[in-house]
Amino acid sequence: MDGNGRWAEQQGLPRAVGHEKGAEVVRAVTRAAKARSIKHLTLFAFSSLNWGRPTQEVNALMDLLCHFLESQEQSMIEEGICLRGIGERSFLPQRVKSLLERVEENTNQNNELFLNLAISYDGRRDLVKATQQLVALACQGLLLPADVQEELIMQKLATGNTPDVDLLIRTSGEQRLSGFLPIEACYAELVFIDKLWPDFTSQDLDRALDEFESRQRRFGLTGHQLELSMSPA
Ligand code: FPP
Repeated sequence: MDGNGRWAEQQGLPRAVGHEKGAEVVRAVTRAAKARSIKHLTLFAFSSLNWGRPTQEVNALMDLLCHFLESQEQSMIEEGICLRGIGERSFLPQRVKSLLERVEENTNQNNELFLNLAISYDGRRDLVKATQQLVALACQGLLLPADVQEELIMQKLATGNTPDVDLLIRTSGEQRLSGFLPIEACYAELVFIDKLWPDFTSQDLDRALDEFESRQRRFGLTGHQLELSMSPA
């Protein structure tokens, strides 16, 4: 969700205002995703590297996250949204951690849309953490080299049992992943959108979905093989 800061600066407003507008777009896009029967949505709200930003901006983002969690809790419960935070939780201020835990607990029976909020997240650090868990099991004699298979590694990532990413959208014209779901998105279709996140609309989501639909995902096969596998026997 890139471009909040630039959106605000372009209008001579404080960066925090861009993040506030960005949070409104989060609400709209989450509803739009659910209305389009998308089952899993992961939003990159705050990267591990973002801790290096000015304290004032970090605090504004943490306040905004709290406000988002508090103000959206009831509607998430009612709309069947299951919220889960992914990222290094120990770094979060206590107030964010407590709210996140509360909303996670109160929405954990929901299954209309699984919404992952990546906060203090970095994919490489997540992989390190997953590896440490596996090594700890190996040290206890509970894991052999042959047990370390793709599925086990995927389970140990913060995204747990979330399916692989199909479509990854980055806004603001930047064309990089910035540590977002590097393992989970390794076969994802990438769509880069020139608009800043606060200007992103449900029509942009539809355009990205159309683009996704128009692509042929070959997963290493040839186009001919795919056509054969899809033609009636
Ligand atoms: C990155 O680019 C974006 C962020 C660090 C914050 C994203 C946060 C939100 C969209 C709102 C809060 C989230 C929730 C879930 C309530 P940038 O905005 O700093 O943009 P820039 O590259 O233009 O400076």
